[in-house]
Amino acid sequence: MFPIHRPRRLRTHPQLRRMVRETVLTTNDLIYPLFAVPGSGIAKEVKSMPGVYQLSVDKIVEEAKVVYDLGIPAIILFGIPEEKDVDATGAWHDCGIVQKAATAVKKAVPDLIVIADTCLCEYTSHGHCGYLQVGDLTGQVLNDPTLELLKKTAVSQAQAGADIIAPSGMMDGFVQAIREGLDEAGFQNTPILSYAAKYASAYYGPFRDAADSTPQFGDRRTYQMDPGNGREAIKEVELDIAEGADMLMVKPALAYMDIIWRVKEASNLPVAAYNVSGEYSMIKAAALNDWIDEKRVVLETLTGFKRAGADLILTYHAKDAARWLQ
Ligand code: PBG
Ligand code: ZN
Repeated sequence: MFPIHRPRRLRTHPQLRRMVRETVLTTNDLIYPLFAVPGSGIAKEVKSMPGVYQLSVDKIVEEAKVVYDLGIPAIILFGIPEEKDVDATGAWHDCGIVQKAATAVKKAVPDLIVIADTCLCEYTSHGHCGYLQVGDLTGQVLNDPTLELLKKTAVSQAQAGADIIAPSGMMDGFVQAIREGLDEAGFQNTPILSYAAKYASAYYGPFRDAADSTPQFGDRRTYQMDPGNGREAIKEVELDIAEGADMLMVKPALAYMDIIWRVKEASNLPVAAYNVSGEYSMIKAAALNDWIDEKRVVLETLTGFKRAGADLILTYHAKDAARWLQ
C-alpha cells in the first residue's frame, strides 16, 4: 500500500515549483535604511556593518538615485547630528540632518518614498530615547514630556518632506501624540508607521555604531520590550491601532518570526519587519568568510519574513536583494 499522496510530485520541475510557490519576495517589499551625517563628500563605512556607510547629504542623494533606479520604493533615514544635547535639538530643528537629507532627496528623486525614523537617541547627549530626570543614571525615560519632543520632531520631519513618520522610541501614547501634532500642522495625510513591537535586543549593536546612539549609562529595558513576551506585543499593537497607526512594525525580525505572524493575525494593517543590524552583520561576516552562500541565504531569509506575514521588510540587504531579484 503506497501512499496516494506524494507531495514530491509538485517538486519535480522548476516551473512546477514556481507555479505552486506560496510566497514570492519582490523589490516592492523592500525599504532601505540610510545614515545621514553632516559635511559633504563623506562616505564612511560602518566597521561592524560591511557595505553600510554613513553618508553626507550629497552622497545620500546619490544613493537615493541608485535605490530608486533599482526599483526599491522607499528609504528610511537616520541622522547623526553635529552636536547632541539633553533636549535632542538636532532631532526637531528645521536645519537638522534628517530634515536636510529628506528635503534634498525629495527634490532630487521626488518619487522615492522617504520615511523618517522618529526617535531622540541619536540626538541626546546621554543616548536615551527621550528626557531623563536630572541625575538619573539608569535611563528611565520620562514618558509624557518626551511625547512633546517626538511631536515636534515628527512635524519638522514632515515639513522637510518626509512622506511617512516612523516613531521608534516605544513611549506610551506616542502614536496619538504624533498624530495630533501632524494633524494640527496640516499633515492629515502623512501616515504613521509605528515601531509597535520593539524588543530590547542585543541585535541592535552594530546600528548603535552606525548611528552613534549607544546609551552612555543604563539600558533601554524600561521602554523597549522584554524578549520573552509575545502577548504583550499584541497589547502594544492594539494600543497603536487605537491611537491611529497606519502600519505596524515588528523589530527585530529573525528571532521574532512568531511575533510577525501574531501581529499579522491580530490586525488588518500592513506589517513591516525590521531585519536589524546584527542580523545583517551575522550574514555578512559568514559570507565574507565564504562560510555561506550570501545570495541564497539573504533571499531565503527575506522570503521567510514575508511567509511569516511581513508585507514590508526594512533591510540593509535591500540593494543586493533588488539586484538579485532583477
Ligand atoms: C532607535 C533605533 C534603533 C534601531 C532603529 N531605531 C536602535 C536602538 O533602539 O538602539 C535599530 C536598528 C538596527 O539595529 O538595525 N530607537
Ligand atoms: Zn531611540
